[in-house]
This record gives sequence, C-alpha cells and structure tokens, in this order.
Amino acid sequence: MSLLTQAAPGDTHVVIETGQTALVIRIDKEQIPTIVHLGTKLRNAAEYGTISGNGKRGEDYTGIYNSVYTPAGSRNLLEPAIQVTHADGNPSLDLHYVRHETQPAGDGVVLTKVYLKDPQYPFEVTLHYKAYQQEDVIEQWATIRHTEKKPITMQKYASANLYLPAQTYYLTHFHGDWANEMNPSEVQLTEGIKVLDSKLGTRADLFQPPSFLISLNQPADEDRGDVIAGTLAWSGNYQLAFEVDPLHNLRIIPGINPYASAYSLAPNQEFTTPSFLFTYSSHGKGGASRSLHRWARKHRIPQGQGNRLTLLNNWEATYFDFNEEKLSALFKDGKKLGVDLFLLDDGWFGNKYPRNNDHTSLGDWQENKKKLPHGLGYLVKEAESSGIKFGIWLEPEMVSPKSELYEKHADWVIKLPNRQEYYFRNQLVLDLTNPKVQDFVYDVVNGIMTKNPTLGYIKWDCNAVIYNAYSATNPNQSNLFVDYVQGLYKVVERIRAKYPTLPMMLCSGGGGRVDYGALRYFTEYWPSDNTDGLERVFIQWNYSYFFPAIASCNHVTDWGKQPIKFRTDVAMMGKIGYDIVVSKLTEPELQFSQEALKTYDRIKPIIWQGDQFRLSSPYTSDVASLMYVNEAQDKAVWFSYLVKNRYKAGSVAPIKLKGLSPDKKYTIQELNVYPGTKSEINTSTATYSGNYLMTIGFNPQVSSRRESVVLEVSEVK
Ligand code: DGJ
Repeated sequence: MSLLTQAAPGDTHVVIETGQTALVIRIDKEQIPTIVHLGTKLRNAAEYGTISGNGKRGEDYTGIYNSVYTPAGSRNLLEPAIQVTHADGNPSLDLHYVRHETQPAGDGVVLTKVYLKDPQYPFEVTLHYKAYQQEDVIEQWATIRHTEKKPITMQKYASANLYLPAQTYYLTHFHGDWANEMNPSEVQLTEGIKVLDSKLGTRADLFQPPSFLISLNQPADEDRGDVIAGTLAWSGNYQLAFEVDPLHNLRIIPGINPYASAYSLAPNQEFTTPSFLFTYSSHGKGGASRSLHRWARKHRIPQGQGNRLTLLNNWEATYFDFNEEKLSALFKDGKKLGVDLFLLDDGWFGNKYPRNNDHTSLGDWQENKKKLPHGLGYLVKEAESSGIKFGIWLEPEMVSPKSELYEKHADWVIKLPNRQEYYFRNQLVLDLTNPKVQDFVYDVVNGIMTKNPTLGYIKWDCNAVIYNAYSATNPNQSNLFVDYVQGLYKVVERIRAKYPTLPMMLCSGGGGRVDYGALRYFTEYWPSDNTDGLERVFIQWNYSYFFPAIASCNHVTDWGKQPIKFRTDVAMMGKIGYDIVVSKLTEPELQFSQEALKTYDRIKPIIWQGDQFRLSSPYTSDVASLMYVNEAQDKAVWFSYLVKNRYKAGSVAPIKLKGLSPDKKYTIQELNVYPGTKSEINTSTATYSGNYLMTIGFNPQVSSRRESVVLEVSEVK
C-alpha cells in the first residue's frame, strides 16, 4: 500500500490485464490519460500506482507523446489517433478523462471502458478494451459521438494508440500480390513514421495485410524475446502507423485509412471503429501466434472449435467448362476420394450473358440453363445421392459490365459518372453502401439457401478492387470506403444470423482479404490461388503467425512439380481440400490420397485445435518444420519439408521438438507413407522422453529422396 503513495497526488491508474500482460493508463490530475505500461504484468497490482513516468527519456514538449488516444489540433505535435473538424469549423480536439468502468464480458473476458470528452465541445470518445484472460489477447476499439449542432467531419479515427519504450524496434510486415501472398520483411524502425496501408477498397490486402509483428530490443525470434502480434479487424482500407518519436519510444496507431475517407458524423450518431487485436508475448513470435490462434478459435471464428468439411473443388479441373453430366461424375469422384463435399466453382450462372469466361454475368445469379438445365436443386440431390454434400461459389459483391444486373441497375455500381469505366478482372464493384444493394446481395444468398436448404457450403469470392470510387446514392462520398465495409458486414451478419452453422469460405482472388473483421462471419479463408506445394509451405507459414490452422483452406492441385504426397502433406496443415481430376490419378496416387484422407480424419483434431510450434524456418534452413501438439500433450503431428535443392540438402541434424511434456515418453511413427515406399522411421520401436526430444531432437530424415515427412508423436501410456 505504501508504494501507492509514491504516485503523484491526484493520479488514477486504469489497469487492463490479461493472464500475462498489462496495459496501464495513468490519469493525471489534469485528467490527461497516457499509457505508462504495456508489457508483462506486475505480480503485485498495487505497484501499478507507482508508475508515474512512462519510460520516457527526455522532454516531451506536449506531455502527450504517450497519449492513450492522441487528439489532433490542440497541443499535439506527433501523429494523431483522431483528428476532427467541429460543426463550427474549429479543427482542434482535446480529450480529457471522465470516468472508466470495468465489467465481465463473457467467459474469461473483461471489458474496460474509458470515457473521454473534449472540455470545450459536446464531443466524446469511449475507448473499449476487451481483455481475454486465458488467451492473452486485448481487443481495442473506440466509439465516437457528439451532440454538436451540425455534422462534424472526422479526418482520422484510429482504433488504438499504443506506446512502448525499448532500445530498438523491429517490424515484421508482409507484402505480395496475386498468387504471391504473405512475403515477410523485417526492418528496424528508425525515427519518423513507417506506414503500412491499403487504398484498394475491397480486395484490400492484395499488396499487404493489416497484420504485423513488433519485436522489442532484438529481431523477432520464434521462442524468445518480447513480441507484439497485431492485426486490424477491418476488411477495407487501413493504415498502420509506426512512429519512433523524438524520445525514441514507439507509437503504434492502427485504424481505418484516413485516405479519401473524411467521415461526416451526424449529431447523436455513434461511430464505432474496427477492433485492433494484439497480444504481447515474452516468448517470441511463437508464443504470440499461439495466443492469437487460441483466441480466434474460442472467441472469433464461427465454429472455431467445431468441425470443417473436406472437399473436392472443380475450379482447376474444369474452369468454366462443365455440364450436369460432368459434375455428376465429379460427385462420384469426390466420394471415391473420400471427401465430405463437392464445391461447384465459378461459371454456373447467367443466361442472357452466360458465364463462360470472366468477362460477363456477375450479378446474374440464375443457373445457366444450358449447362445446368435442372438447376442447382438437382445438383444438390445428385451430390447427396452420391454420398457427399454440395456447396457453391458466389461473388455477390461484384457486377460484370456485360450483365442484366448492370443493364437494370447501373446506379448500383461504384463508378464515376464522368470517367471511363476501369476494370479489375473485367468487373466492377456493387455499391454496398446502398441498402437496396445490401438487400440484393443478402437475397442472392438467402434465395439459394431457401431453395436448397441442404446446400452445405459457400465460397464467397471478391476479385476486384475499387477504382473510380463514387456512389450514385451516398450523400457523403467520402464516407464511401467505410460505409462499403460496414454494408458488407451488415449483409454477412444477416446471413450468419439466419444460417449460423453454414460453412463459408472467405476468398478474394486468393488471399486478397484475410482479416478478423471478415473472419467474424466466415469459418475459413483461402490463403492463395497459388497451391504449388513448395510455395504453400512459405505462404501458410506466414499466415500462421496470425490465423489458426482450422481456418486455412489448403487444396491439393496440379500447381507445382512436387509429387502428390508433398502436396497432400502441405494441405494437411489446415483444412484439406482437392482441386484435381481424380480420374487422372494413377492407382498409387489414388490409394495414397484415400488413405491420407482417412489418416487426416483421425489426426485433424490435433492440427485444428492443437498448439502450433514452428521448429525450423524455410527462410533459414533447408528444411521447413513445424508441429501441432494437443492440449493433453499426448499427441503431436509433425510436418517437415525439403525447401532447397542444393547438393546434400536435407535434415542433416536432429530437429528439436517443442510443446511436449518433458516427463512423458513418446513413440514416433511416420504417416502418409507413399505406397511402395518404406518409412525410414518406422523401423524402430524406440521411445523417447519429451525432455530428450526437446533437448536433443530427432532427425525426420528429410532428403531429396524424402522431400516431405509427416510424423505422429504419441505418448506411450
Ligand atoms: C478466384 C479464386 O481465388 C479462385 O479459387 C476461383 O474461385 C476463381 N476466382 C473463380 O473465378
């Protein structure tokens, strides 16, 4: 208690804690809220009261470099979190603490609200912090409201504003393009601002996703060091600003991109920013990603702890060229292979303009009578009578210029009236800020589901970005990018409310839109159209920093040169599917695949619900290696791949396992052994302690003869 007296008189400390982490906000006697600690929590909560400085190291000319939500236009000199113009034209904001409250918000979740207000204007910001105790994740967002006489304009309205003191800061971010998603770059941040952003509107993550890692004092290590994994739950334009301030502290300001988005907010209307999610790990990026995975499975992704369906997709097997007969044969192939569902991809719709290529028909969601004379209902039944479920591809946010929808409702399309149309994959985006368009999109899905109640899966695609942003009906053009995403969420929210258990895949021409805003509604996501097995080792590796395996749709296709075993092993590190011509498989390939699916069915709970440990990085080693361990630590599945083909490349030394119980004894058995080959592992009946496997390791014998190896590690009971 005596320690508390060291706090400046009049100070209040708001403490937001998870199992391991604390975020501490100090309110000084002027009612100014600043962040004074973000990191490992203290053992004795009473000592938070003694934090008065804040790791600052020199003069702060404003007193708010470490503001909890930096307002622009008054005394601030750095990057703001919020910038507004009041109804009277005044461009300044000041935010003072009013009060805070803490309440339980579900199983192991505590919500803290910090109420702030401008002393001169009826303008309020409430900061929300949801602290997920066991998962060590904090979800933060802001609500903004005013009762001024007329609308105000918000130039910037970030989700969060974090502050961290360290000697050095390393940012890992990811970049790419179609079929080349999630390439990591790690940079040391220097004074000034580094901005990651998207201005693409819909397929917002095409070049980079709103997810990052920050490592303090050293480059990010898998198991050691203080690492923050952060991700913005927003499916549109975002901005992540990392500012090393004049005192060499790091300010992180994630939120909606202010670009072309000055938002008009009417009196009494409440604006809610998207959530920023982060976890602070003192056990490196491995610890951070396991926390996010646990959080996502339990609290975010629909049926995150439930089941998923394996499937056969026809996209690469047929492209647009199919009919009922071909599809019926594919249903049988799917059954023979042993998957749960057949997924009919693009090309099944449009009559005035049949969808025979990607130039026409988006928006005309009626079965093409030539290809499917008996309609979708017939296909659902045919699939079911072959013993598998039926699912369908849709791209409901889009319209082709050559479509009946465009002819009827040109005013539903995002485009500028006085500019030439400009297309991305020959298509345009529908104006989801318009409630009529929202109804249309909802009705497309609801109509299909009502007619076909046993339809078992939807793949929701989104292949275009927004060019020429303009809405024919939105009175505030600069609200468009934000209202679009909110419109989309309204639609999927309605779909989820009516079809709570329908599996839905989030796809955007590959991984063009993978974020926890959309994954509130979608059970899984499509990481990339690039399904080359080797490429996928890298792509999936990088997504795995933020998203759990259960949500990753990995398909075995004909991309790449690796044998089917390699491609299957890689696809198993998530939710497996196929996009191949089953009838073209050789007898051993088919036999291998059928067996692999049976094995997968047995081990999938470990992959889907287990903790993931990255053991050996494809970026620094010949062998990529990672494992999943179940909660009881009595089962693990371990995947290793040869990723380099230099002379003698392979696992030349044992790889140390992680996540096992040191005191348990384990055996190691090889899975997915290709017909006609022999395992180099299964020859021995040796047992090893977890301690041995994690200290000395085990060699999976990866080499050019054994390019991929899957091992099952089981406790001997
Ligand atoms: C892009 C997706 O990523 C593919 O899987 C496929 O569905 C095509 N669109 C269909 O047009």
